[in-house]
Amino acid sequence: MTTAVTATALVVAACTDDGADGTSASLPPSPCTSAVGTCSLAEAGRAIDVRIGVALSSSQLADPMIAALVRQEFTQITAENELKWSEVERTEGVFDFAGADALVDFAVANGLETRGHTLLWGQRQGNGMPPWVREITDPARLEAVLQRWIQAAVGRYRGRVQRWDVVNEPLAIAGPGLDQNPFLAVLGERYVDRAFAEAAAADPDAELWLNEVGAETNRERADALVELVTRLRARGVPVHGVGLQGHFVNGEVPAVGQLRALVERLRGLGVEVALTELDVAVRTDVADPLQVQAEAFRQITAECLEGGCAELSFWGIGDAFSWLDTMLRRPADPLLFDRSLQPKPAYEAVRNVVAQG
Ligand code: XIL
Repeated sequence: MTTAVTATALVVAACTDDGADGTSASLPPSPCTSAVGTCSLAEAGRAIDVRIGVALSSSQLADPMIAALVRQEFTQITAENELKWSEVERTEGVFDFAGADALVDFAVANGLETRGHTLLWGQRQGNGMPPWVREITDPARLEAVLQRWIQAAVGRYRGRVQRWDVVNEPLAIAGPGLDQNPFLAVLGERYVDRAFAEAAAADPDAELWLNEVGAETNRERADALVELVTRLRARGVPVHGVGLQGHFVNGEVPAVGQLRALVERLRGLGVEVALTELDVAVRTDVADPLQVQAEAFRQITAECLEGGCAELSFWGIGDAFSWLDTMLRRPADPLLFDRSLQPKPAYEAVRNVVAQG
């Protein structure tokens, strides 16, 4: 690990040396305007009021080099798993917020924001729902446990977690319509309304988001997402934002203009839009995978910003920690920092687009 630590220290020094006060402990105080190539991603994001987020676990944050990199390069964190219902309330009525507390405490102590991920995620292949909840068939009982969970989580972090992914992946993965999950089966589509209402009651100042996968490249899913958000808004559900997860697991990007158009369409409904879980797996069919990946990140970032995205969040701090290795059964290397936490061409590509506003 010595190599990784030394290498990361160089990254930190390279960005902080540019600081006005010349110390290595603090970042330059002024927004990054022209210093493309020297400012951090976080500075570049702050200058154009776009959040730069990263998904983490509390154990990763315990590594001082990771903590330093997060402080330097990001303005927001997301718990990769530790705020999912399945993790916090494994046993009915017994809440374990230890991991989430560590993450939120770190964010607050370092002036970062937190995206709470996620209150309701019913899909079978997801890990968001405790198995005991899946057994519930009585609507009143399901509403009661849902209310208790949302009150516990959102209430605990009231004023400290700025935004929540209230409902994750409500759309069917294949085919039209909503995911046929247990919430839908027992409560109907109003399970979404109910979750938003409970979250709003628990923290009236928090932004409440809907988060969805795969709409960036699939036009049917994009239409279904727009239709769902339209229905929710028409019913007065307080949807503040829509997250596009941005998992490009085969390494290919949407057609030119497709992402920008979706972001604009959603914003036209009166909601904010973010890329909430961005990763782009390296392709195995190209000669220079890291450059091709960088170009993919450049296009995605540029279109997101042109469309008016409020946030770019990455699904992991570095390639050593990506969930995609397990999912794809190969090294996916889909993030901005490599296995030694060194910036990749993708980092430069994203940073330069953000720095140019
Ligand atoms: C993933 C985590 O990264 C993995 O560690 C976990 O085993 C499964 O969940 N969409 C989401 C995220 O909204 O919560 C998922 O995170 C990735 C897909």
